Amino acid sequence: MTSTEKKAPSKKEESVFDWLKTLPPREGNIFFSLCEGGKKTVNKSKLKEALFDSGLQINDFRLRSFFEKLDRHRSNDIEFEDFNSIIKAGGLLIEKALRGELAVPDFRDFSINLDKIYDEIRPNRSGDLAKYIPPLAEVDPEQFGIAVVTTDGQIYQRGDSDVDFSIQSMCKVFNYSIVVENLGLDKVNRHVGAEPSGRQFDDLTLMVKGMGGSSLNPNNQIPFNPMVNAGAIMTTGLINPKNSTGQRLDYIREQFGRIVGWNAMETSGIKRPRFNKNMARQENFKGYNNIATGFLLMATGNIPHSDSLLPEDAHEDKEYEYDFYIEPAVTNALKVYFSICSLEMTAKDIAMGAATLANGGVCPITQDRVLSQSTVRNVLPVVQMAGMYNSSGKFFQEIGLPSKSGVGGGILLIVPQLMGICIFSPRLDSVGNSVRGLEVARKITQKYLVHLFDGTMTDTNRIDPKVPISKWRASSCGEAIWAASNGDVRSLERLTSQQRDLQAGDYDIRTPLHLASAEGQTEVVKYLLNNGVQPIPDRWGGYPISDAKDNGHNEIVELFTKLDVNYSEPVHLVEDPDGETDEMATFDNEMMVIELLFAAFENDVPGIRQLVARSIPVHAGDYDLRTALHLASAEGSLQAVKYLIEHGHPLNVRDRWGATPLDEAKREKRDSVIKYLSSLKK
Ligand code: DON
Repeated sequence: MTSTEKKAPSKKEESVFDWLKTLPPREGNIFFSLCEGGKKTVNKSKLKEALFDSGLQINDFRLRSFFEKLDRHRSNDIEFEDFNSIIKAGGLLIEKALRGELAVPDFRDFSINLDKIYDEIRPNRSGDLAKYIPPLAEVDPEQFGIAVVTTDGQIYQRGDSDVDFSIQSMCKVFNYSIVVENLGLDKVNRHVGAEPSGRQFDDLTLMVKGMGGSSLNPNNQIPFNPMVNAGAIMTTGLINPKNSTGQRLDYIREQFGRIVGWNAMETSGIKRPRFNKNMARQENFKGYNNIATGFLLMATGNIPHSDSLLPEDAHEDKEYEYDFYIEPAVTNALKVYFSICSLEMTAKDIAMGAATLANGGVCPITQDRVLSQSTVRNVLPVVQMAGMYNSSGKFFQEIGLPSKSGVGGGILLIVPQLMGICIFSPRLDSVGNSVRGLEVARKITQKYLVHLFDGTMTDTNRIDPKVPISKWRASSCGEAIWAASNGDVRSLERLTSQQRDLQAGDYDIRTPLHLASAEGQTEVVKYLLNNGVQPIPDRWGGYPISDAKDNGHNEIVELFTKLDVNYSEPVHLVEDPDGETDEMATFDNEMMVIELLFAAFENDVPGIRQLVARSIPVHAGDYDLRTALHLASAEGSLQAVKYLIEHGHPLNVRDRWGATPLDEAKREKRDSVIKYLSSLKK
């Protein structure tokens, strides 16, 4: 639990924080975080902007009554009581969004990075359209869209993410999910394996079923997995085989629809997949290989025979004539398979479907449990192992996520417990995967820790999307610095065993060695030096030896004197050391303080706002008595400076060396901040 203790607040601070104390803490802090311009009201459009920044959309089905209530409110500026009743209409979702507690808390930063990835990859025009049937050969090759949906229903969309395209082989993921859900894994396993095939998607080879099976008995042969065509034709054959093909397609559209967020009342704003009949007919015309596969499955006894009686022969009286019989079970399975490959959805729909799988079978938007947890748990390993066919192993090594591509140009990726991603761009590489789609997948995993085995990575610059960026930065250095400052060698030993970098500096390049030296923690200094940590200069050019000297820790000074380092002296600017001094707040969640200062350093106003919503006082100070205003001023982050002042940050807080935020702005020559802060001092 965190608590706030404010010492002798200044006049201005007193009024803001005293007023805040009169409000219920949780809702009060959320409200306060959104107040602007020193007013005790929240602006409607600012509230919307904060929600959109967090990845929620205006047409979000879950927020319908919230947005209605907000729009009905009589004025643009909302007072606390009304605000409280409006956000209650959005339930926990709104609170979580404003406190930065959704699946991807720093959604704005995430979106900016995805925009960069999109722009970088857009010029790539390599690859070719699928040419085997006209409706695929004739699509606009320039199309490019990305959609991401998190398990909390945050949505990122860019480019052609609302354009319908042919889902093709991506249907295999949803198809397998439905069959496992309906029949149970044991039954499904009797018809289709869960083994990598190492072959192309349309290969006719089957595998021998079970341990010790014999390839001499054709009835022992089943498709390797449901992601290759043979396996997908098989699973399609298992969906309501006694019904007509029309009924079966209807059922499948409905189930796919539920997975991607369609609801029976059609209030979610998401439609059932669209059927492209021409595409299905063309698939049929050119589908010799699939037809052969279907008959092979019939021959091995895998597709259940239809119950219909064999028809009477109309040519009994003719010596060589008889009615050629084709088992309807196989033609029907093929017909349904061609049809579901020819369903059309948007990248957003498919990302939503992938998010349902990431979310253990519950659609993030409709909250409909479409699949059981165990179905998802049984489906995802197969998607991961075989979804990219004969490049699945390589793909998993590099990208590390369950993924599925289709020759329509789509690729879906599932980040378990976090998000679904779909990229659509129709130019394909030689194995049939979207060229840009693969590039996007690569770039995402180069930027973010989402590979399933990234849990073992500590020496990486990649970002964990589950953690706000400033918290991520804080965790890379803050714990060690606080431990060093407090003389906590045991914690440093623990961090060493976790391979954490004990030389990492904060926003001021202050390191554990600086703080241990300033606080006279001799054992810590010895521990760090013995573990190969080097003294480096901080923001002001000061080495740890200066901290030790300034604070009279001679034993530590001697330790540093023995090292072969050319130490420079720090240059601080303190214009009026005897001037007015304001108190800063203490806040017992030390890491949150570091997070706040990193957010201020980055000019990350939404990040600061979320921390304020989580009750941190804006003027909390760190181990060097630095506050968010020092950092925002030193970096010239005017927006952050203004936000902090408007939320009660006093002007004359002084850091360890006596510098105020204005001193810092002057030292770093941040003109706009100097002008603004000076105007407030008058
Ligand atoms: O079965 C087929 O040939 C197509 N309808 C689907 C192929 C496909 O998408 C292969 N995947 N990349």
